Amino acid sequence: MLDQRRTPLFTAMQRYLRRRPAVFHVPGHKQGRAAPPALRRWLGAGALQLDLTEAPGLDDLHAPSGVIAEAQALAAAAFGAARSFFLVGGTTAGIHAMLLAALRPGEAVLVPRHAHRSVHGGLILAGARPVWLPPAYDPDLAIPLGVPPEAVAQALDRHPEARALVVVHPTYHGIPAAIHPLVRLAHDRGLPVLVDEAHGAHFAFHPDLPPSALAAGADAVAQSLHKTGGSLTQSSLLHLGYGCRLDPDRVQAALRLVQSTSPSYLLMASLDLARRELALRGRRLWDRALALAAAAREALARVPGVRVVDYPGMDPTRLILDVRGRGLTGYEAAEQLWRQGVAVELAGHGYLLAILSPGDGRESLGRLVAAVRRLRPSRRRKAGAGVGPPGLPPWPEVVLIPREAALGRQEAMPLSRSEGRIAAELVAPYPPGIPVLAPGERITPAVLAYLEECLRTGQHLQGPADPTLRTIRVLAE
Ligand SMILES: Cc1ncc(COP(=O)(O)O)c(C=O)c1O
Repeated sequence: MLDQRRTPLFTAMQRYLRRRPAVFHVPGHKQGRAAPPALRRWLGAGALQLDLTEAPGLDDLHAPSGVIAEAQALAAAAFGAARSFFLVGGTTAGIHAMLLAALRPGEAVLVPRHAHRSVHGGLILAGARPVWLPPAYDPDLAIPLGVPPEAVAQALDRHPEARALVVVHPTYHGIPAAIHPLVRLAHDRGLPVLVDEAHGAHFAFHPDLPPSALAAGADAVAQSLHKTGGSLTQSSLLHLGYGCRLDPDRVQAALRLVQSTSPSYLLMASLDLARRELALRGRRLWDRALALAAAAREALARVPGVRVVDYPGMDPTRLILDVRGRGLTGYEAAEQLWRQGVAVELAGHGYLLAILSPGDGRESLGRLVAAVRRLRPSRRRKAGAGVGPPGLPPWPEVVLIPREAALGRQEAMPLSRSEGRIAAELVAPYPPGIPVLAPGERITPAVLAYLEECLRTGQHLQGPADPTLRTIRVLAE
């Protein structure tokens, strides 16, 4: 058993600093001495001193054999993985690496259509061919719910050429995938399961949270420890499960490709320390967060006109508040909350999303509840608050793989004249954030009509270079 009280990397960094070396290596701020004064004031001496690099005794993230290897082994043990890798480029880097390691150019992979753009980016990097999986979604609030196992089973039958399954677990809104059946379905056919668990780094540490993908037997799992695990923004973990169908050397090679050659030791130390905290005190910390979430849910459910939205099995520390009953959109509610000094994670057309963590307390939740009680009906509809047409247009014909389209010769042209052309970029009306066009797909009249309706109602569109979508990037003819 590894001793989870240890922090090999952080301890080695302290040891290095205790020697008070005369430093003739990067970073050039020389432990803060040449840092801009405002940065010094805000970060403090400690953070700047910890901003180290591959100095003696501090190992090398890209070929770890010392303290980073030990710290990663402790992370693997704490999260229930066979192997873990520190990420300094967020979960985005982990998702890119798992796709690069699992797939060869041209190979097919089953991908939920509502996957985060890091997955869409990974498809471009890997040159993979996506077989899109349609997510179920709540049409009332336009929230994606995940891909039902039946849809995955059908896709697996229709696409025996598929080489991997991508799963989003949980969604941004905290809605878990049917992770156990999905893993079983893919493993029955010998396929690796690659999981985007960006929002589930805390799952392994409390039984009242959804099951972790590693516990369900997933092969590769990327987690944003910075989102819910207490580490610094951009620090994440990539885990390989026991019996992983990916070659760990290929994963390490892919990480060398997508991560900086100057990884931040500050970020890596925060991973080392956050892992220790979760391993030693995770259960207690999340006990408290869950109790606070339950109390907040109760108090918010009593506010007239506010509905606390629940989906089966969801992470109870995500609060989805349907505010339409108070006569305003989610966007307007978020604005009113902000004017009262309360910042939420996300607003949709009809709802707000608040994320709770062990960092919350009675005071912060009291402010949230009080601000929600003070929400007033909006007198004037604001532009940019559209919900778009109901349903989604049929997905268009896939002509090219995302890589060929996204990296091919392209031009911007007026959306109104783009029918029949091949899209070179992703276009996802938000909400629900499910792309209606992916690079390589032919633009159909149905997609055009849908997008024009989105523009008419002022719906936000994610992905296109021209955010007004007056023009769209298509492949040059
Ligand atoms: C569902 C999902 N996947 C992946 C990511 C990427 O994670 P990171 O920001 O750590 O790169 C995010 C980030 O918001 C996300 O919401």
